[in-house]
Amino acid sequence: MSENGRSSSRAMPQGMVIAPSILAADYARLGAEVAEAEAAGAEWFQVDVMDGHYVPNLSIGLPVLESLRAVTDSFLDVHLMIDNPEMFLEPFAKAGADLITIHQEASTHLHSDLHRIRELGCYAGVAINPGTPAETLSEVLGYVDLVLVMTVNPGFGGQKFISEALPKVTKVRQMAIDAGLTPPPVQVDGGVDPTSAPAAAAAGATVFVAGSSCFRWPAGIAANFAALERSVMVHV
Ligand code: DX5
Repeated sequence: MSENGRSSSRAMPQGMVIAPSILAADYARLGAEVAEAEAAGAEWFQVDVMDGHYVPNLSIGLPVLESLRAVTDSFLDVHLMIDNPEMFLEPFAKAGADLITIHQEASTHLHSDLHRIRELGCYAGVAINPGTPAETLSEVLGYVDLVLVMTVNPGFGGQKFISEALPKVTKVRQMAIDAGLTPPPVQVDGGVDPTSAPAAAAAGATVFVAGSSCFRWPAGIAANFAALERSVMVHV
């Protein structure tokens, strides 16, 4: 057990990654549905945490992450859609997060919060909403392991993909290159499905969060996951 109570730090999966969001899973069968997605090839899951204040919805918190951590060795990406994220960085790290993503809009001291996430042994991610310019990240691109470009306004699954957000995927990558940095992986989240994902891949995204199109579409989790993978692999 490392000094911050985390059992091990998992390497972030590389390349084109479909990341099922458990927001859309059946919580009465969460472990089984995650296992079904893993059997189809999933190795990265997003855990959407909502506080009913930063976003107009409540979702899940520490107990669900702790339970999930105990039954999977997959990469767990905690997306904090909460105000005052600095209050919960250590608890989520100790509960088993491998990556903690905070919102640029919700962090009063973004530079400090991102450094704290890494100090806790987690990868550090920063998210920007559809109304937030990529340029707001210019001072922190050197301190993040992932940038999340939201393709919906946060708070709910099952929303329509906002394709107008995609130029920001390309912009973030170019900003990093212009600053002499290796571009961090860019993740898209919200309304991602086999129709919208290819355009996100073409814009430079490599991590695709999929909730409804993975856990709720009628073909079933395995077939849904395979269709999502096929839709982005043409850009490998
Ligand atoms: C929005 C959530 C959703 C979720 C995925 O706050 O972050 O984007 O992860 O939802 P779907 O894939 O169902 O649009």
